[in-house]
Amino acid sequence: MSTGRSASRWTARSSATLLLLVLAGALASCDRHPARADGDGRGRDDGRVASAAANEAPDAPAPPPDTDPVGAASGSATSPGAPAAATPPLPDRQPPADPRLDRIARYIIDAAPPASARDARARDAAVHRLSRFGDLLDAIGDRITWGHSDVARSKDDAAHDPSAAIPTIGLAAEVWAGLYLTCFMFSDPHEVRQEGAFTVLLIPARFRAGLPDGDYPHPFWHDPAEWKAYVDATAVRLVFRDGRLVAGSFTVPADGPMEGRYPPSPPPADRTWHGQWTWTDARGASQPRVAQFDYLLDPTNPHARTLGHAYRELSAHLEQHDCLSCHRPSNPAAARVLELLGYPGQALGSRERIVEVLLASSMPPARPGVHEAGIADDAARDAMLRAARRFVSEGDAALAYEHMLTIRPDQPPRK
Ligand code: HEC
Repeated sequence: MSTGRSASRWTARSSATLLLLVLAGALASCDRHPARADGDGRGRDDGRVASAAANEAPDAPAPPPDTDPVGAASGSATSPGAPAAATPPLPDRQPPADPRLDRIARYIIDAAPPASARDARARDAAVHRLSRFGDLLDAIGDRITWGHSDVARSKDDAAHDPSAAIPTIGLAAEVWAGLYLTCFMFSDPHEVRQEGAFTVLLIPARFRAGLPDGDYPHPFWHDPAEWKAYVDATAVRLVFRDGRLVAGSFTVPADGPMEGRYPPSPPPADRTWHGQWTWTDARGASQPRVAQFDYLLDPTNPHARTLGHAYRELSAHLEQHDCLSCHRPSNPAAARVLELLGYPGQALGSRERIVEVLLASSMPPARPGVHEAGIADDAARDAMLRAARRFVSEGDAALAYEHMLTIRPDQPPRK
């Protein structure tokens, strides 16, 4: 997709006298626009990698050359705030300056600025901008994990605390950026820290605690501890490894709450969970509304309707085989990275994996003494596999369309 945009820029700017300029511009634009056109064809980075810091990421594609903070360190990088002139080489422990991280932080703060915690419109506006933010999507690739970092307990794991009660979920990049990241409002001052192999971008954040129930991607209040962790968070951590954004989490940093600047807001009302993961509102609309494709996708997306059909078809199989008894926000089977299959938007990030587990007959998992792993009835498994493959191809098409709408600020935002 970005190829098409580069091509039109090429056409617009090419003329004999400007040939050199155009060449230079095209090269620079290539630098800034690592192709996302290959979208789902690229390697799948994985929540599992992110949540297990010690693991290597064998299937993660090599980061684009301009995104490697290590590479930046070996050049003439300066640390943020350091005087620009005649800076001596950095000591190893300091994070290398990475203008890309700074650009990402500034854009996030600009797109989701402090507002009233009840302001649903401000949230919608943030969704629109963040779910399309090219630098962020490029940094992620396909998938990211999102969870709570209880830093007091996760010294060795910059990404997540795998033993935390609040599950870590695996999500498609644009769904995470649109639905989960935007549950927070952001402000300066952001920080970049080096934590072992990870570079961590820490941004002061406050949870939007006063939105209607259907404006949260899943009912966080199903577990009072999860709701409280969201409400109490004072920062969002974006965890980079080798230049890739592998995990995001909400937290109170170990060295104390981060002070952002937010309008005063009344303490959030307690929410009572009525035992429903999804529901239909008085007007017959599916809730949470933000997890539906018509909220997530652009109104002009020609694949929205067929994607909706494909999900509904798949969903019948998910129910028939009881997949949602485990793949729900409460994570009863304690998956290290949870696939939230019962929500259309969240399920998008799991689409290829669903096909894989069906091919491998690994889901549902075996229950010793009761049944083996997989769907025993071959015909039923094949039917589900067809539905899952259709969801993959519709999902690919829908996201490829969305990628054409990616926002790539040509100029880094000014200070
Ligand atoms: C008894 C609980 C349970 C049921 C029922 C169940 N799953 Fe799972 N599923 C899990 C757990 C636990 C994991 C995580 C495994 C891990 O941590 O390695 C998982 C992982 C997955 C994954 C991710 C695999 C990966 O490679 O990342 C997919 C996709 C999945 N399940 C799909 C399904 C589907 C489809 C069904 C229904 C046919 C289903 N599951 C039924 C417990 C369950």
